[in-house]
Amino acid sequence: MLAGEEKQLIETELTRIKAAKGFRHIRSQRPIDSTHVAIEGKPYLVMNSNNYLGLTDCLHVQESAIQAIHQYGTGAGGARLTSGNNPLYEELEAALADFKGTEAALVFNTGYMANVGIISSLIGKEGYIFSDALNHASIIDGCRLSRGTTRVFAHKDMGQLERLLEEVPVEVPKLIVSDGVFSMDGDLAPVSDICDLAGKYNALVMIDDAHATGVIAGGRGTAHAFNCQKRVDLQVGTLSKALASEGGFVATSQKFRDYLVNKARSFIFSTALSPATIGAALGALIELKEHPEVQKRLVRNQVFMEKLLHNRGIACQTESPIFPILVGSNERALQLADYMYDRGILLSAIRPPTVPEGQSRLRLTVTAAHTEEELAQVADVLSEGLQAFSSKKEV
Ligand SMILES: Cc1ncc(COP(=O)(O)O)c(C=O)c1O
Repeated sequence: MLAGEEKQLIETELTRIKAAKGFRHIRSQRPIDSTHVAIEGKPYLVMNSNNYLGLTDCLHVQESAIQAIHQYGTGAGGARLTSGNNPLYEELEAALADFKGTEAALVFNTGYMANVGIISSLIGKEGYIFSDALNHASIIDGCRLSRGTTRVFAHKDMGQLERLLEEVPVEVPKLIVSDGVFSMDGDLAPVSDICDLAGKYNALVMIDDAHATGVIAGGRGTAHAFNCQKRVDLQVGTLSKALASEGGFVATSQKFRDYLVNKARSFIFSTALSPATIGAALGALIELKEHPEVQKRLVRNQVFMEKLLHNRGIACQTESPIFPILVGSNERALQLADYMYDRGILLSAIRPPTVPEGQSRLRLTVTAAHTEEELAQVADVLSEGLQAFSSKKEV
């Protein structure tokens, strides 16, 4: 294609995205603490963060990161297989395996890279992946990168999953993959039923607990919530959300870990995380283990927010600190997010392709660090905003 034609195509696509109210931009903001930021000098309450335990401004976590820099410098200098591990990596992986109840764990540079690397290395041309329709984009991209066949089952539809599994011969490699907590809906995967089907049809199970680690079942995740920690072959998680740092990981058997170290391209061909990043994640994990009351505070705030919304007649179903406030169109989601913003509250308008067409929403997340007064204020303003817009006709 000629360069001129390419530019025209880009122009046309940007115009289309803008017309559909789907255009996104990155806002500049200055963090004040784990639940407040300043934008152009004005403070805002953060209700759109995955910093579920509020540990980004925990002094122990910060000190752990700073100490890591003093001990090992600011950058890793190379990929782990070529330049080696600093001892913090080994400490973190041992702590993650212990926390998740597995033999071993392997840290990747992001949760995205964990999903892409694991799926694409486990399933080759002859294999099949069975993926929930609402799985995260990184799982979808992992399926695309693997050269296997992907079968998508309707959200949590175990009947359809079984019918799809039945169609594939027993001896063919199979992987069932699902978010543990669905990132835009806040509901939990039926992990136990998935494991039952995996056992019946000889499939591996991979659960992405990006939003469950530090959050569900004392922070151990959905495999633990369903007492399936020995039945889920690969428990994926991130260090970037409740663990207040950056990176992804998988808790699994030693054999799978060895395989991934040798085969997962997103692990092999990328420079290791900085010591500060590993230090922060390790500090957060220690904080979570030594102070379980932090996770309990998160659950209390979740239950409190559920009550607040219910009492104001706001329909919202969740099983986690993620509250999807469904509004329908992109325009309405943007209007409501602007309404909240004008009143000092940050909420993100989530639109396609992140969610299906017609299901645009505000995604509200509570954290352990929010106060009850703050949550009550959010519920009040949200209720006013929803009332204001429900009485207006959409244009
Ligand atoms: C379910 C899920 N998996 C994976 C990821 C990717 O994790 P990371 O941000 O660490 O790349 C995310 C979010 O970003 C997510 O919501």
